[in-house]
Amino acid sequence: MPVEWNESARTWTLSGGDVSYVLHRDGQDRLLHLYWGPRLPGDALRYEPSDYHSFASFDLPVSVLPSEIPVCGTGWFGTPAVGIRDEKGAEVVDLKVVSAEILPGKPLPDGLPAVYTEADTEADSLAFCLEDAVSGLQVTAVYSVFSDSGAVTRRLILKNAGNAPLMVTSLLSASVPLWQGNLDILHLNGAWARERRPVRVPACEGEFRISSARGASGHEENPFLALCERGADEFSGQVWSVNLVYSGSFLAFCRTDIFGHARLSIGMNPDVFSWTLDPGESLTSPEAVMVFSASGLNGMSQVYHRLYRDRLVRGTWRDRSRPILLNSWESAYFDFDENRLLEIARKAAEIGAELFVLDDGWFGKRNSDNCSLGDWTVNPEKIPSGLKGLSDQVHDLGLQFGLWFEPEMVSPDSDLYRAHPDWCLHVEGRPRTQARQQLILDLSRPEVQDYIIDAVSGVLSSSGIDYVKWDMNRNMTEAFSVSLPPERRKETQHRYMLGLYRVLEAVTSAFPQVLFESCSGGGGRFDPGMLYYMPQTWTSDDTDAVERLKLQYGTSIVYPASAMGAHVSAVPNHQTGRTVPLKMRGDVALGGNFGFELDPGKFSPEELEETRKMVLRVKELRDLTRTGTFWRLLSPFAGHITAWAFVSQDQRKVLLCAYSVLSVPNSAPVRVRLRGLKEDAWYETEDGRRFLGAALLYQGITLPLRGDFDSFVCVLKSV
Ligand code: GLA
Repeated sequence: MPVEWNESARTWTLSGGDVSYVLHRDGQDRLLHLYWGPRLPGDALRYEPSDYHSFASFDLPVSVLPSEIPVCGTGWFGTPAVGIRDEKGAEVVDLKVVSAEILPGKPLPDGLPAVYTEADTEADSLAFCLEDAVSGLQVTAVYSVFSDSGAVTRRLILKNAGNAPLMVTSLLSASVPLWQGNLDILHLNGAWARERRPVRVPACEGEFRISSARGASGHEENPFLALCERGADEFSGQVWSVNLVYSGSFLAFCRTDIFGHARLSIGMNPDVFSWTLDPGESLTSPEAVMVFSASGLNGMSQVYHRLYRDRLVRGTWRDRSRPILLNSWESAYFDFDENRLLEIARKAAEIGAELFVLDDGWFGKRNSDNCSLGDWTVNPEKIPSGLKGLSDQVHDLGLQFGLWFEPEMVSPDSDLYRAHPDWCLHVEGRPRTQARQQLILDLSRPEVQDYIIDAVSGVLSSSGIDYVKWDMNRNMTEAFSVSLPPERRKETQHRYMLGLYRVLEAVTSAFPQVLFESCSGGGGRFDPGMLYYMPQTWTSDDTDAVERLKLQYGTSIVYPASAMGAHVSAVPNHQTGRTVPLKMRGDVALGGNFGFELDPGKFSPEELEETRKMVLRVKELRDLTRTGTFWRLLSPFAGHITAWAFVSQDQRKVLLCAYSVLSVPNSAPVRVRLRGLKEDAWYETEDGRRFLGAALLYQGITLPLRGDFDSFVCVLKSV
């Protein structure tokens, strides 16, 4: 029974895989959190009120209760999951459970991305209805638990069933008291070109927060936060984590209460969000995905990988190998014409690539990044045959054809801006802050959404496009839509996201065959919200292979390899100036959606030959990297050797990848233990060496790495 109600204990137990999540309705109809951890039977737990009674007058019962949905103004002193300001300016809520309903499968939110089921047997759901009697606020808390993995999702639906407007001032998708302390916090921190670096710090007294107010999930922090037992590592120990299925600003925090117990929360960022609910209106929070693992960080990541690969990503490309692409950006930047593009494409075909992507610079009069965003018509001076003509010629070379767009933006120097100067985010009477000489279109406005849908669809339906790179290259300023009344202007960022999701749904469902890859100055919007619409994301603008070890390792904490764009680029690398051998560049990129970011016309004959062989190998291995279980083995943050492996679902095939950055003198050969193999199976390498599974698991395999920038990629098959 995935969701069990125990009448005598007044508990609901949600169970899936090896995990249970237990809630309790107390004598005053408050919804309390009892447990989240290894699986338990539905009658295992009783709530002991004395556990949580503090008698000092400063510690009101509510402030120390393990509330599942902490609210404002009635004794909860932290950031509430639900904060409401009423017409009189008071912020007081008191939620009582009115009813609870167990539902088969997983209901989906309207207009927001979410993980889904394909059969009702895959998950079960529990919907609580809670009410604040005075204001008329109704909160529906919708939980789902996936039967195979125990991943739990939660979202809140707020409805104003009263007679006066209510302003939502705080809205958290998940807020879980863990009943214990002495934990570590793990988050993914970064910046442009060095996104998602795992950072682990002790959870100490007080509060630890990460957030984005950028109007995008951002390069700086990912909407993910985990708490780990002190001793937990990649392979063992307990980990609790939350990830928000949302692409805009967010807040995540760990608050340690007076007993030293940690609470893990994620949701909307109240610094840049509020929402007025008129009587009868509703608002749904983004969905939080909550993953518990008793087998360390790899165990946690593997649950996210599988769930996102199979039940977040949708459409034609979900279960298909992704084409090997060559993107024009680092080979030509803005400096190209039709002939030059075709020259590059011809070489791309020669090395075995399958898709040629024309990046920035094909439209309006864009020869640098100072104009034309918004004018999505081809520049006939650069491409006289037009997009259709170019696409036909690329198709004739046996390649698919892809195109870059940055549809959410407008350049002040563009026909679109001249026609609609009020369509960008701005505040009357104030300068419009530019970044990369561009402004952001106000996607909270339906007419702007419609314009984007029409402009992009027009190009896609007329030009033979097989792939789209959907970019977004700056963050929000003056995000207070002029189309909204003053009291609603702080809704702009969230309305923008809802507008963006409407646009993405319209465009991606109108062109189901097109492969979409999202991008935001590289990985500035690498989040589950975007993956719901677009099955892959450009991991980072940093294409240096050594940096990519960190990028791919850090990104894999939450996101599957099938979501990561990974390209071989030219040397010296354009971001770091580093020169890494072609072999290692290829061996790193094969850990994601493989491609190129260079002009193969500049290769020597030997390099061309090496690249052709590399591409053939990637074609052999890409099903395994897309569908295999990913194991982080040695961290690039911990030493000079990095290793990871992909193990096929039937455990018969393993791809081991290991890399040495700078060699260390007088060091012993490094041995790495593989994971996820069958102990009693024999595995054979391509050069005929045989190993017993147990030997690989417990003694490991020696890595033949020598010198700087060396790599070792090896396939083992069970015999
Ligand atoms: C962003 C992307 C790059 C490239 C440029 C084009 O920075 O991340 O890959 O597309 O825009 O302007």
